[in-house]
Amino acid sequence: MSTPDINDQPAGEPRKLAGAGLRRLRLRSVAAAAAAIAFGSLYFFVRQQLKDGVWGFDLYLFNKSLATASLFLVTLSMILTGIGYFSRRPGRALAFRKHYGLAGFWVGAAHGLVSHLLLPSRFPLPAWTFEHPVASATGLAALVLFGAMAASSSAGVKGRLGGELWRKGLRYVGYAALVVACVHAGILKWASWVNYFGSFGSVLPSLSLPVVLFAVAAVILRVFVWRSAKGR
Ligand code: HEM
Repeated sequence: MSTPDINDQPAGEPRKLAGAGLRRLRLRSVAAAAAAIAFGSLYFFVRQQLKDGVWGFDLYLFNKSLATASLFLVTLSMILTGIGYFSRRPGRALAFRKHYGLAGFWVGAAHGLVSHLLLPSRFPLPAWTFEHPVASATGLAALVLFGAMAASSSAGVKGRLGGELWRKGLRYVGYAALVVACVHAGILKWASWVNYFGSFGSVLPSLSLPVVLFAVAAVILRVFVWRSAKGR
């Protein structure tokens, strides 16, 4: 069904239809977040069995699935622009960008809170922060930048800033936050990734590896969009 056209409806209808459309977008992004977390949980559950020979699932593994789901969702919200630019019919996928981004922010916030408030024995504050200053700073910075995007994604802010400046601001802050989140995950998981390619002992790599590669692909696609738009 095509996106409802507001112009050919009697007066009261647009608000109801827009409301229904918005509800559908939000529901789909919540479903996408739940699916990403469920997939991550299953992945880390099976990987732990292959790696350590134990079947078990706990908050530590769940936190990893929150972390990878957050990075996946914010990457998805940004890569849709690049895909839309090069595809003939960008269509409805673009409408999901804001909502996948918002879902990624809230899942990232949950991950940060679970790490330090619900897993204090693993990631004690402030000790863990002093031992991992760059990983902590980049995690927090990514969350603050994604939060700033969430706060300024409303039509009101767009109206005040003007469309062009608003779009540019969201774009640059978005890609900066994505790179910072990749640095955060990279610092914490580098040893695990190198170990994986050294021995393939765990059969499956940490899910953070393919998700960070997905984020890198989104940044590279953005560069292609920028170069192509400059050439037009
Ligand atoms: C205040 C904010 C944040 C804090 C305190 C935080 C903390 C942590 C901690 C403690 C880990 C290690 C987890 C482990 O080894 O099991 C971790 C890993 C990770 N974090 Fe964050 N993080 C924050 C924000 C973010 C954000 C915003 C993202 C993504 C957009 C993110 C993505 C990741 C990823 C992908 C991993 C690797 C998970 C794994 O494979 O083990 N983090 N973070």
